[in-house]
Amino acid sequence: MTLHLQRIRSEFPILEERIDSHPLIYFDSAATAQKPQMVLDAMRSYFEHDNANAHRGMHVLAERATVAFEDARKAVQKFLHAKRAEEIIFTKNCTEAINLVARCFGSTLTEGDTVVLSLLEHHSNIIPWLQLMEERGVELRWIDIDEEGRLRLDQLDQYLAEGTVKLIAITAQSNVLGVRPPLKEIIKRAHAAGAKVCIDAAQSIAHEKTDVQEFDCDFLAFSGHKLYGPTGIGVLYGKKELLETMPPFLGGGMMIRDVHTDHFLAADLPQKFEAGSQPIAEAVGLRAAIKWLAQFSWQDIAAHDRLLLETAFASLKKVPGLTILGPQKIADDIAGCISFAIEGIHPHDLTDILGKKGICLRAGHHCTQPLHRKLGIVASTRMSFGIYNTLDEIASCIKELKGAMATFTK
Ligand SMILES: Cc1ncc(COP(=O)(O)O)c(C=O)c1O
Repeated sequence: MTLHLQRIRSEFPILEERIDSHPLIYFDSAATAQKPQMVLDAMRSYFEHDNANAHRGMHVLAERATVAFEDARKAVQKFLHAKRAEEIIFTKNCTEAINLVARCFGSTLTEGDTVVLSLLEHHSNIIPWLQLMEERGVELRWIDIDEEGRLRLDQLDQYLAEGTVKLIAITAQSNVLGVRPPLKEIIKRAHAAGAKVCIDAAQSIAHEKTDVQEFDCDFLAFSGHKLYGPTGIGVLYGKKELLETMPPFLGGGMMIRDVHTDHFLAADLPQKFEAGSQPIAEAVGLRAAIKWLAQFSWQDIAAHDRLLLETAFASLKKVPGLTILGPQKIADDIAGCISFAIEGIHPHDLTDILGKKGICLRAGHHCTQPLHRKLGIVASTRMSFGIYNTLDEIASCIKELKGAMATFTK
């Protein structure tokens, strides 16, 4: 079965928007995806009928809010194929989830221990580790990329052979090149060398099936808003035995078992890592997004993604003066986006012109300065795809892109 695009699009109210009478063409789903009506309805209904604070009262609404929050956890558990619900920790976003690992797992590391990253990483999977380096003297090693943007796994083997690697923190899908590193292989090699693996699934989460048991990853982080859910909610999956040995992250209400004036005892999982009032409506929205997406098969989602990528790639390749970054051929290990640079035209100027025509592209370094430095540029333009994008939208975008380029060469 293929995706019924007209029906899918009709479920996203924002796609009806007009920008100065131009139809909205949204190619920025890697930044945040649009939300189907089902997500909007679920959040509104929660506030209209069930709103209270979760895990904090005996009255009927408190009970409903608690059930709604914990049902969302179970939905995420099922979605990630995790063994246990308490391995799912709710956070504010993917960034906070990675920070949790860096702070709490990181606190078990000492000077001389090594964390391995790759040049594909988003700043969210770089800064927490740089902070750990500054605070604890932990060393960082970087896996380089080849000329097509793929990881040089020979370097990973060299680092692992040093015997000091405690963790590999790696993206499942580059938010610039779309490249997907061979995670199963990386995890196998890491575990053989006694290292843990934390996966940044921010981009891959909406494009491929995520099975944490099949990956056998130790941690995995993502944000709800890139999965057609709301902002304000993220997830950290962690293996129970690891989460249990880690100290709590933030301190506050509900993350405790017992509090005295001179000490406290942390709660069991998952509350130990969930201090303060939680994003309950956002969890309800995330559950609705997962439910909404479950009506499609990952195979169909991937096939649609591939068609969009191949079509955009073939058209962009023919534009004189435009260089596609990363892989020069679409392959199975690429998904979600294409980035490019144009000789003599700054991405900000280009996307400003296209934006006025209703076409939303992202310009800048996309929170990947080390990657852009490696590519020898300061900024690029990114076209990223969601389940609702069409081939007609790609054709309109390329036509307007050529028109915009012509205005610069006049
Ligand atoms: C690969 C990658 N990792 C992490 C993040 C951070 O996500 P968030 O800003 O939702 O925390 C992003 C956001 O674009 C991303 O693309």
